[in-house]
Amino acid sequence: MASKYQAPRGTFDVLPEAARARGRIERTAAAIFARAGYEAVATPAFEDTELFERGVGKSTDIVRKEMFTFEDKGGRSLTLRPEGTAPICRAYLEHGMHKLAQPVKLSYLGPFFRHERPQAGRYRQFHQLGVECIGTDSPLADAEAVMLLSDLLGELGVPGVQLRLGSLGSLDARRAYLEELKAHLHAHEGELSADVRERIDVNPLRAFDADDEGTRGVMASAPTIVGALEGEDAEHFAEVRALLDAAGVAYEVDPTLVRGLDYYTRTIFSFVCDQLGAQSEVGGGGRYDGLIEQLGGPATPAVGWAAGIERILLALGEAEAEPAPRRVFISNAAGGAESRLAMALATELRHAGIAAELDLAGRSVKGQFKQADRIGADVVVVLAEGGGGQLRDMRTGDQRDVDLSNLVDEITGGEA
Ligand code: HAM
Repeated sequence: MASKYQAPRGTFDVLPEAARARGRIERTAAAIFARAGYEAVATPAFEDTELFERGVGKSTDIVRKEMFTFEDKGGRSLTLRPEGTAPICRAYLEHGMHKLAQPVKLSYLGPFFRHERPQAGRYRQFHQLGVECIGTDSPLADAEAVMLLSDLLGELGVPGVQLRLGSLGSLDARRAYLEELKAHLHAHEGELSADVRERIDVNPLRAFDADDEGTRGVMASAPTIVGALEGEDAEHFAEVRALLDAAGVAYEVDPTLVRGLDYYTRTIFSFVCDQLGAQSEVGGGGRYDGLIEQLGGPATPAVGWAAGIERILLALGEAEAEPAPRRVFISNAAGGAESRLAMALATELRHAGIAAELDLAGRSVKGQFKQADRIGADVVVVLAEGGGGQLRDMRTGDQRDVDLSNLVDEITGGEA
């Protein structure tokens, strides 16, 4: 009975079992964020297109070809958010959060949109959760950010996780390094893929990500920014590493690590999982000391990350579906006083925090037992004609009389 309509390409429906697994991830993250003082915020699903062009960078794949952009009825260009950092910085400025005690520590969770070619772990609508710590350049904030994601993946039990760490230096150091890198790429233009060659001057860092052999050969001898770090940049990176060492967080320094967004400065990091195929990153982020100024605000250093909920689910595998909560099923004959009593009892149990359902489909008593079994009910309350009732334990089949005026205690054994 499938209708001709399907979820659009690269999107998916979240059905109840998957929703439970997501719920566990969301609750675990919320608890970790709250314990570290990162307050939840939410921004709209779409923003002015210019925010992403300026924030994420015109030369990035995201802005060049992956945005869902549309015009509203007033002719204004809007874009479904492809990422959350630029919107949070916009909100930080719009609401004068730079006047609050710094840093401002925020967390978020929600859907994001990128017009990418769909494959396992890569969707056109996906969900990220993440944190942003805005208003400090302390290496402590970088290390704390990394540790929050490390804790989250650890607490969820994501297997086979590795942390890669790099640094892009401050804005000035990054600029100087990019000139050096461009010179190297221009000197080897003939060996590069067409895509990399065309973007030497706009986005030379992406050459580190290329997988064609020619470009890889050129990059093997390319200068790395980690190797070129000097002065405060080198000290900052050394301190982040020392803090992670002291906390016992294992990582590998990857001098060729780059990320797909233009705003990064200094620390960048990526958590990869060997259970995932080509889309191996579960989460990542870094420092973005120039972004807020780029968006028209005062110079404000910041650091953060985002993790993909679908990637975490994939890495965890199927086993992670949470069992449904324990349920009571209250059988009732359709209509009449018995239905009203069943409804009242279900409400009483629910108010006491007990998951309780009743037949809404006018089934026969036999049909109701079948349904109770199907939904995994632990107990069925059987209402006897003329008042009174019985409780059937669905696992053992035992049935006993109960006092319906004291149903909560009868079900919980007095421990509700
Ligand atoms: P990103 O690396 O573009 O960073 O995305 C973060 C995470 O989102 C990825 O590690 C991945 O798990 C997930 N993800 C990205 N694209 C897709 C997709 N098409 N399908 C499924 N999952 C996807 C950012 O978005 C930055 N805003 C992170 C950040 C926060 N940096 C600093 N603060």
